[in-house]
Amino acid sequence: MMQQLQDATGYIIDKTGGFAPEFGIILGTGLGALVNDIQVQHSLSYADIPHFPVSTVESHSGKLIFGQLAGRSVVVMQGRFHYYEGYTMEQVVFPVRVMKLLGVKKLFVSNAAGGLNPLFSTSELMVITDHINLQPTNPLVGKNLDDLGPRFPDMSDVYNEELVRQAMVIAEDADFDLREGVYASLPGPMLETKAEYHYLSVIGADAVGMSTVPEVITARHMGMPVFAVSVITDMCTPDRIKKVVLAEILEAAAIAEPRMTMLIRELIRQQ
Ligand code: HPA
Repeated sequence: MMQQLQDATGYIIDKTGGFAPEFGIILGTGLGALVNDIQVQHSLSYADIPHFPVSTVESHSGKLIFGQLAGRSVVVMQGRFHYYEGYTMEQVVFPVRVMKLLGVKKLFVSNAAGGLNPLFSTSELMVITDHINLQPTNPLVGKNLDDLGPRFPDMSDVYNEELVRQAMVIAEDADFDLREGVYASLPGPMLETKAEYHYLSVIGADAVGMSTVPEVITARHMGMPVFAVSVITDMCTPDRIKKVVLAEILEAAAIAEPRMTMLIRELIRQQ
């Protein structure tokens, strides 16, 4: 594994002339527009990077983009890997480990999620303040890579409080409601049953999705502070639940996209 990480990192350093990103960004479903704000210096297809998995979901394009956002050096994953696509957890989080080896100091993650908190509305943003991992496994299972992080990483402060606070101030200044809450991560790919949505709200989740937690666990294992935000693309409370259509999820994400883009950009400017 360490050798594979070094192969991928070495290839990237070679192709980008030693570009050293300060911040890593993972863009979720329908949130790719942040890339338009980036002065792109290098763009590498996942398919060309040694040992990188290749994206299979149509709404993700599968590129690692290097450039400047708000005057800071960033690396952006345009398209992420999901466990439901058939990848192992090690493959899902491989790019996060590569980011760390490239020198990334903080990780910013976005996703699309179903809303469980009755106070939420479709297309609102929710800053993730904690998570519940309901994936069938996690990327740290197996022999620990001591060079990357500890065997038993602490998970009591997964989402960086200072970044959450800064995000709340940015949203207040921009005059939009930024929600805070707990994200539950399930494997998918099917959406949840009514009973499962009820169960998730009872155990304390405010939103549910199929990603993010594996990457976040990996980043924390390696000591990277994390900021994560969900777009609520559909409401899953008993009175508002309806059949989920991918096109509608993408449409709800698109409505939130300008706010999401602004939030991440301004947050990075402040680091
Ligand atoms: N469940 C899981 N993932 C999702 C949902 C949902 O309701 N909406 C968007 N992503």
